[in-house]
Amino acid sequence: MLSTPVFTGASAPSSAPQLSLPTRLRPHDLLRITDQGASEVLEGRFDHLLPGGGIWPTDERWSTRLHADDDLDVWLISWVPDRSTELHDHAGSLGALTVLSGSLVEYRWAGVELKRRRLDAGDQASFPLGWVHDVMRAPAASTPALAADGQAPTLSVHAYSPPLTAMSYYEVTDHSTLRRTRTELTDEPEGPSK
Ligand SMILES: [Fe+2]
Repeated sequence: MLSTPVFTGASAPSSAPQLSLPTRLRPHDLLRITDQGASEVLEGRFDHLLPGGGIWPTDERWSTRLHADDDLDVWLISWVPDRSTELHDHAGSLGALTVLSGSLVEYRWAGVELKRRRLDAGDQASFPLGWVHDVMRAPAASTPALAADGQAPTLSVHAYSPPLTAMSYYEVTDHSTLRRTRTELTDEPEGPSK
């Protein structure tokens, strides 16, 4: 289990509006927690939760919960090629991730279009309320040396607070708006593997 989070307290400038978020954790807390979780995975602290024989699934996304309490759940996810999460939000949960190995691509809804960014090993991202994105393993590089490296697992640690309970899914319409298509109760991270 991860160490007890250290709360750093309110850091917003006094002029900022006071938000009543459903958690006492803030994005910077979640970023630090996922960084800590990634370090502990690399140190072998969660080896007992990893796939048997050290063989990572190659057909479907795989995940295991590293920590759970009233404020927080933390997951390790192994990503596979050609699988999308679909565009989704995290309902009433804030989120964050740290990439341990490999690379992810995220498409985030930015108001009138999707913005793409690549997240490589060591990169972090946080997801405030209302964040709508699709996440997938980055395509393997075309050069042989980098393609060989692309065979390594793509792993990321994700934290959600309050613990994830639901996600809504979206599609982009022909007139560049977002249409919510469904909401599902779930405590599994990052949506379906399609
Ligand atoms: Fe997500």
